[in-house]
Amino acid sequence: MKENRGSWGSNIGFILATAGSAVGLGNLWKFPYLVGKNGGGAFVIVYLFLVVLLGFSLMLAEMAIGRNGKSDAYGSYRKLNKKLGIAGFLGIFTCFVIFSYYSVIAGWIVKYVIEFIKGGIGGDVAAHFGNHISSPVAPIVYTAIVLLVTAFVVLKGVSGGIEKAGKIMMPALFISLIVITVRVLTLPGAMEGVKYYLTPDFSKINGQVILAALGQVFFSLSLGMGVMITYGSYLDKKPNIVKNSLLVTDLDTIIALIAGLAIIPATIAFGHEVTAGPGLIFITLPSVFAAMPLGSIFGTVFFILVLFAALTSTISLLEVVVAFVVDQAKIERKKATVLITVAVFILAILNSLSFGPLAGVTLFFGMNFFDFLCYLTDNLLLPIGGIMLCVGVGYVWKEADVVAEVTNGGTVKFRLVKVWLFVIRYIIPVVLVLILLQSIGVLKI
Ligand code: PHE
Repeated sequence: MKENRGSWGSNIGFILATAGSAVGLGNLWKFPYLVGKNGGGAFVIVYLFLVVLLGFSLMLAEMAIGRNGKSDAYGSYRKLNKKLGIAGFLGIFTCFVIFSYYSVIAGWIVKYVIEFIKGGIGGDVAAHFGNHISSPVAPIVYTAIVLLVTAFVVLKGVSGGIEKAGKIMMPALFISLIVITVRVLTLPGAMEGVKYYLTPDFSKINGQVILAALGQVFFSLSLGMGVMITYGSYLDKKPNIVKNSLLVTDLDTIIALIAGLAIIPATIAFGHEVTAGPGLIFITLPSVFAAMPLGSIFGTVFFILVLFAALTSTISLLEVVVAFVVDQAKIERKKATVLITVAVFILAILNSLSFGPLAGVTLFFGMNFFDFLCYLTDNLLLPIGGIMLCVGVGYVWKEADVVAEVTNGGTVKFRLVKVWLFVIRYIIPVVLVLILLQSIGVLKI
């Protein structure tokens, strides 16, 4: 049975693959623009506070469910209680949806890698970007490339594909990020940006900033949708999952912080606005690279590293769905991977067209297809996933069994186990219910 499902070759392989899932466009694209949009240092502080409060606790809860269940997200939840199967199913559905739009944005990155290899983007970058994403065919081709590479890795299985990809891509990503950051921080004028990044202006903190930070914690750490359950299910009983959760949470957060430290000062040093929003790395950054000595080389390295980060994330998104089909429908991994990839591609096409021909088609609560799916996942599915996770671990699973799972039967020290359970039972659900009420418009923060 275990041979059929696959398992990690080593604990470091597990950590790199899991960090690979967490580190992605969320860290390198979204985090810097959220910082720029939401008041610089103030946003960073709120984000860090929420990572400490929620991030680690939910990560550990998911890994525990997975390792205990030894099955996909649905099967692992059902092992706690049959009714909780719905929580697993919802997570799998969320991954499917996120995969369908995440791969489109990753496709834009592929396009940029190619442009930078050819020498960089000059002239009117905003128009160039706008033309690319709104054209009907090219971005879909790039999305297909992302899907094919992702499917190829997932086809190869847990240790032969996913673990290997993480072991190669994650160290490469880390090293190139450091090189780029050092380059940026030695630019004249960079310190102005560092100041903006590190000096919190607390007057900028309001309900919206807190909401944005909270959504980002879930998205960036890949929480609330069964990724960590699925990856945890390929672990055996030896590794210390308390330490593993802490390490992955730290790695993800450090990489987001470094990404901000590279991108925000570079933007300010060259006199651009950091409040550009989603266009920050696609429009502002290429102009920065164009103005920087050896910019096209640094630009190429930068976009390749973003692509690696995105791919280790798409791999995890696909794996959650593949694991479900393999474990529940007993379909062979290869067949499952192909079927799901084709299904995702269809949705991805609609997402890509939402930036062009379908941009004005607002059949979904006044939003176009892409905006609607983003809203659905960020504001509804993720908080619901988080609440169900807390219910599963905090209320349904027997306390003695939870504690035995996270402490490997009492052999691993976890002094804060009671505090962890308290946070899972009483703090996080309250925060998430408030978020949910705000999202559906019952509460106004
Ligand atoms: N955590 C990834 C990122 O920051 C995105 C992701 C979300 C991956 C959900 C898997 C599941 O880019």
